[in-house]
Amino acid sequence: MILVTGGAGFIGANFVIDWLAQSDEPVLNLDKLTYAGNLDNLRVLEGDARHLFVRGDIGDATLLSRLLTEHRPRAVVNFAAESHVDRSIHGPGAFIETNIVATWRLLDAVRAYLATLDAAERAAFRFLHVSTDEVYGSLEASDAPFAETNPYQPNSPYSASKAASDHLVRAWHHTFGVPVLTTNCSNNYGPLQFPEKLIPLVIHNALAGKPLPIYGDGSNVRDWLYVGDHCAAIRRVLAAGRVGETYNIGGRNEMSNLQVVHTVCDLLDRHAPRAQGGSYREQIVFVTDRPGHDRRYAINADKIAAELGWQPAETFGSGIEKTVRWYLDHADWVANVTSGAYREWTERQYGAGA
Ligand code: NAD
Ligand code: TYD
Repeated sequence: MILVTGGAGFIGANFVIDWLAQSDEPVLNLDKLTYAGNLDNLRVLEGDARHLFVRGDIGDATLLSRLLTEHRPRAVVNFAAESHVDRSIHGPGAFIETNIVATWRLLDAVRAYLATLDAAERAAFRFLHVSTDEVYGSLEASDAPFAETNPYQPNSPYSASKAASDHLVRAWHHTFGVPVLTTNCSNNYGPLQFPEKLIPLVIHNALAGKPLPIYGDGSNVRDWLYVGDHCAAIRRVLAAGRVGETYNIGGRNEMSNLQVVHTVCDLLDRHAPRAQGGSYREQIVFVTDRPGHDRRYAINADKIAAELGWQPAETFGSGIEKTVRWYLDHADWVANVTSGAYREWTERQYGAGA
């Protein structure tokens, strides 16, 4: 069995579903079900005895100790986090609590659990920590993409809290011998992403006839990775990554936000044309920029390619087509996750009527 934390969120749910599609090894899924966690994401696993869901906090030491002792997982894959930069600007507290303090509690619970294992079990155990490329800071257009050796220069409360968690993970390896692996990934997109992140927000607003808000002039660049490729990379690192190492994961798909939004609008024009005619591009509005908005993220994924033979399978073209089609085919999912809490958030962020 493996313990997955945050497995009701966007990437975690995709990971659990992909895992159980490829392996019979059961998953213990621990998730607090914050606004971003949704059991609807795991509906395809209903009745599957290989999936055991527990609602709880990675900061709950008593719960962790009980779960680890009872289920004796051979690995932990830690997705649980507060993950939205804009939310971290409005309220950093939850980011400090979960991404730093609760990650420390999780690491300590794992450390105590390791002491109860025999030497062979301990040698085989892995703690895989899922992190972000945002810990490296921001690139200018002419800079080389982020390598694992880049210094940490986080700029937002979110990325600072993830950087802190990466440092704790590293320290629990060097000081206490916890067998850790860390992955630093670029922007993900795909099915099940909560519609406050750029791509699902644009799809959702476009179909609802609402404005498509682009921060600043839309020239900020991200390196987009299809979530299924990210999940495959994590499985590969878990299986064969070298303990104590970090692996950057990216899609080799650098795009400006405006290019991304244009692509989504063009796909929607093709697959779900506007009733009144014209293009969804007409709904684009340029809004006040995010404070401290990082200019560019780009990943050098040579290490994971050379050491572990991982490459992304999707291009941005193929991945975004799948993604747009998924959202069009799952209007019920979108309706369910766009709850009252979601509406309150979008109103605060984008103003009433957004
Ligand atoms: P998400 O916000 O969609 O999901 C996070 C999940 O963690 C939710 O299900 C939430 O309920 C759960 N959670 C939050 N706090 C918790 C706690 N204290 N205890 C237990 N569960 C808790 O995030 P995501 O986009 O799926 O990201 C998953 C991980 O990947 C995060 O660590 C994030 O930093 C990292 N990451 C995300 C991206 C991206 O583009 N989405 C890119 C790189 C790295
Ligand atoms: P986001 O999906 O929030 O991811 P991150 O900030 O972690 O990269 O945003 C992706 C990019 O899109 C980022 O440059 C901010 C921009 N953006 C907009 O222009 N408008 C929006 O409404 C949102 C949510 C993001």
